Parts: sequence; structure tokens; C-alpha cells
Amino acid sequence: MWGLPLFPPQASTLAPQVDALFFFLVGVSVFFSLLIAGLIVYFAIKYHRRSEDEVTEAVHEPVALELTWTVVPLGLAMVMYVWGASVFFTAVRPPRDALDVYVVGKQWMWKFQHTDGQREINDLHVPLGRSVRLTMTSEDVIHSFFVPAFRVKQDVLPGRYTTTWFNATKAGTYHLFCAEYCGTVHSGMIGHVIVMEPTEYESWLGTGAIGGSLASAGEKLFQDLGCSTCHTGQANARGPNLQGLFGRSVTLEGGSSLVADESYIRESVLEPRAKIVAGYLPIMPTYQGLVTEEQLVTLVAYLKSLARPSS
Ligand code: CUA
Repeated sequence: MWGLPLFPPQASTLAPQVDALFFFLVGVSVFFSLLIAGLIVYFAIKYHRRSEDEVTEAVHEPVALELTWTVVPLGLAMVMYVWGASVFFTAVRPPRDALDVYVVGKQWMWKFQHTDGQREINDLHVPLGRSVRLTMTSEDVIHSFFVPAFRVKQDVLPGRYTTTWFNATKAGTYHLFCAEYCGTVHSGMIGHVIVMEPTEYESWLGTGAIGGSLASAGEKLFQDLGCSTCHTGQANARGPNLQGLFGRSVTLEGGSSLVADESYIRESVLEPRAKIVAGYLPIMPTYQGLVTEEQLVTLVAYLKSLARPSS
């Protein structure tokens, strides 16, 4: 079965789970399709009209039979629902210790940024046996990040972050596709995910990272854009203190609160007035058009790095 080129290899922790559910659904569907089609043919022959004046008997359904064909499909549907939900929750919730990679899709390429500063186009190098969390956005239209071998497919949308994750279980090179029609060269928006042994991956990381980590690039941009003139970190500053902000709960003007994540930071840079932190004035200008998605990622990485207690 796995030798068929129709079926992609199973190369992530999610793949066997998705496949098991898939084959269960196919199995149930095939079983009932055959059963029903078979019974239709069988009954059509068995109960066909034998003479011109034959009159059908009145039929009374036995309660037990009615209950059986109500309860059995209900049970099967509930199994599908609970099983499907559990696979779905696994697929959408990245483990906390996952390695962060930032993805920007654009017509027609995939750009990857690793936290230590490595950048690549259409190739993504990841370590074997380690959860990798992708934070993705698009510079133009909707794309979709699809790695069949990992059973991972997630839309990549302009104007917001979407995330997905995987944990590769087999070293090798796997196809990466764009799975959302995005223009003339949609079919050429392809690449590879290269899964490496951890030691190989470490030495790969060691080569060619120029310009320092993402966070340090973000810190430089933070200074260059003048963010630090308001976000001084002092008690009387015009902007909120960003030290330790990431992952923390923030109280907004009006009393609601949220947890500061990537999307919140992104929005606060591009649309500062969308959510005002309690106790501050809506005076921050927008940086829409002044920073690219790739630069925004560095700012996010910088603020994330501030979340760890600095020594
Ligand atoms: Cu990008 Cu299709």
C-alpha cells in the first residue's frame, strides 16, 4: 500500500493519526455502501412483483430493528466526531517547547526565517524528532502551506498570522506545495522540507547565519523605527513596557484582557489603535507600509526574547 506513489510517506507524528482516522472513515463508508447497494439488489430480486394482480402486504417495522439502525449509525457518528476532534486538537495545538520558524508566503515563493537568523527560500531545514511550530503570513494573496508527508495543510493569509506545527519522524526530503490557487505560477510555488538528524541540523545552523539572530535584528529595527523613544520601559513612559510582555495577560482600556501573542504584537504595530492598553493614550502612529512582513517577524521575535527573564 505504502509503495503506491498515490500515497505520501508517513513522516510526522501526526501522519499515522490522520491516516488511521482516514482509513476508518473509508472503511465505514465502503462497508455501508456495499451493504446498502447489495441489499437493494437482493431485495429488488427477492421481492419483485410476480404477477399483475399481486398486492403488497402491509409492513410493520419491528421496534428492535428500528432501534438498531438508529443507534448503530449514531454510535459510529459519535466515534467519528470524538476521534476527529481529538486528531484536530492535536493538529492545531503546537507543543510549548516547539522550535519557532517564521514563514512568509508571496507570489510565488516560500520564505523561511529561523530564530537564530538563518533564512531560506523554498527549502526548509528542520531537525528530526523535534516539534516545529510555523507562524505564517502572506505578503499578497491567500496561499496554503501543504506538506503531504506530514499531513499538514494550513492556509497562509495576508494580514494575519496562522500557525501549524509538525514533529518529523523520518529523515529525508519531502515535498512542500502551495495548496491554494494564488495566480499564474501557483503550481511553481513548491519547495522541500529537509528533515535532518539533530547533529547534522546543528552543523547546518552553524553555516551561513549572517546578521545575527532574528531577535537581534528585531532589536535593531526597534531602535531604528524609534519604538524605544516611547516604549522606554520606564514607569512614566508614553508606551507600555514591553519587557516580559509576551505570553502575559494584558488589560485593555474598557476592562477586557487578552494574552499577548504574535498576532497581538503584529496588530499593535500595524493598527495600534485597535487595542489600547489600560492607562495609555491612543497616540501611537501606525507602521502599516513602513515595515515588511519579514521585518515584523523580527519585531515579534525580539519581543518574544524579552519575555524570558533577562540577566
Ligand atoms: Cu501560493 Cu498557490
